Amino acid sequence: MASEARAAGAGRLAIYPGSFDPLTNGHVDIISRGARLFDRIIVAVLVNAEKNPLFTMEERLEIAREVFRDQPHVEVDTFEGLLVDYVARRKAQVIVRGLRAISDFEFEFQMALMNRRLNSGIETVFMMPAEQYTYISSRLIKEVFALGGQVSGLVPDTVEARLREKQAGLAPGR
Ligand code: PNS
Repeated sequence: MASEARAAGAGRLAIYPGSFDPLTNGHVDIISRGARLFDRIIVAVLVNAEKNPLFTMEERLEIAREVFRDQPHVEVDTFEGLLVDYVARRKAQVIVRGLRAISDFEFEFQMALMNRRLNSGIETVFMMPAEQYTYISSRLIKEVFALGGQVSGLVPDTVEARLREKQAGLAPGR
């Protein structure tokens, strides 16, 4: 399958799916590592991942596009429905997921094997972020920021600025 894609000039394409509410430096680290391994990586933001996301879909797309605007091998897109169907539609071969700690493993293992059962032509590749990001999650970032804690260095600058805007009530709907 990969050789067919290469023959077609598509190169090796990976999908990095997630909710990204919001994008953290842990995500950015994994995407940058993925961009070195694959010819192209698509950051695929799940539509309606949570009932009450802090950031709208448009904001999450804007953030990712802003962060990766100078990296032509990184594309930002949305997807709905089954991940494997999206991966197949994009003619990708690989799903990239980050593994931070053993606690991630159980759910990731279940998802990877379910996705393999649904489409055996797609492989899941796990990557570890740099050590300084192994404890970060979008959920913790939102909680710490809401309670007045510092998140500098843990999220891209644009995310921090947007968190501040939301806190100040400057961005209704955000
Ligand atoms: O960042 P997240 O929330 O950990 O990402 C989870 C995500 C989006 C990868 C997962 O929920 C997903 O793939 N959802 C799409 C629906 C789907 O395919 N479900 C079956 C997965 S085995």
